[in-house]
Amino acid sequence: MPMVLCHAPKGGTGTTFVAAHLAMGLAAEGADVTVLTMAARDTMALHFGLSQAISLPSLTAPADEAVLVGGINLRYWHRSAEDADLLPMLNDLGYLTPGKDRVLVVDMPSGEFRAALRLVEHACAHLCTLTAQPDTLALLPQMFGETGSEGLLRTAFVINALDETRRLSRHGAAFVRELAGQRLIGRIRLDEAVPEAMAMLQPLSRYAPASAALHDARAISGAILPALESTAASWIAPTASRAA
Ligand SMILES: Nc1ncnc2c1ncn2[C@@H]1O[C@H](COP(=O)(O)OP(=O)(O)OP(=O)(O)O)[C@@H](O)[C@H]1O
Ligand SMILES: [Mg+2]
Repeated sequence: MPMVLCHAPKGGTGTTFVAAHLAMGLAAEGADVTVLTMAARDTMALHFGLSQAISLPSLTAPADEAVLVGGINLRYWHRSAEDADLLPMLNDLGYLTPGKDRVLVVDMPSGEFRAALRLVEHACAHLCTLTAQPDTLALLPQMFGETGSEGLLRTAFVINALDETRRLSRHGAAFVRELAGQRLIGRIRLDEAVPEAMAMLQPLSRYAPASAALHDARAISGAILPALESTAASWIAPTASRAA
């Protein structure tokens, strides 16, 4: 089961939103998907139409305690993200072997950058969700330095909450496009329906099937698919035309 690590240098960029919709998109492609959230408190359950108050079962909880939504297995890592047992545990559970039929999507909070660095080496892809805002973009050089060239080979970027009616947002997106090149695999438009669906405790696909953000987020899973079976150091083909 290959692992896709969702982690961004800054909080609030939409990492959890993207991780949830990536999981749904891969499940729609026929994959058996597990989502592992590493945050003690986050909105993952809400994206699946569950109450945020629900306590998701631990990674190691037995199958009869599983919370399955649309076939997606929602799990929580209840110990520190830096716990030395995490990687051996993922390996024992078969979560680190390439193949497209079973996928583990990890939602790692931005603050856990050391744990993210350890996991990225074992992930088939690292999905980094950015907003086209200066406070996020200013962190990119630091993130590039920390991740290193090896880690960046697996990194793909998504611009989220893009508002093309705003000049700063357009310019920020152009900057990311220039910096990331083929590594920018998509953009997701700012869409009020995203928080509204959460307020209604409904999945976005039920609350607003015509949502622009839903449409954009669905395209991300298609762009990640080549990573799942790739054994190359970098799954992003230099000639592929996937610019957002
Ligand atoms: N495309 C979008 N359009 C509008 N709102 C969005 C969009 N994507 C995410 N949001 C909203 O932005 C907020 C933050 O999203 P999310 O929780 O996914 O970010 P995060 O990066 O995981 O944050 P954290 O650092 O707290 O883990 C949420 O309220 C979500 O509804
Ligand atoms: Mg989050």
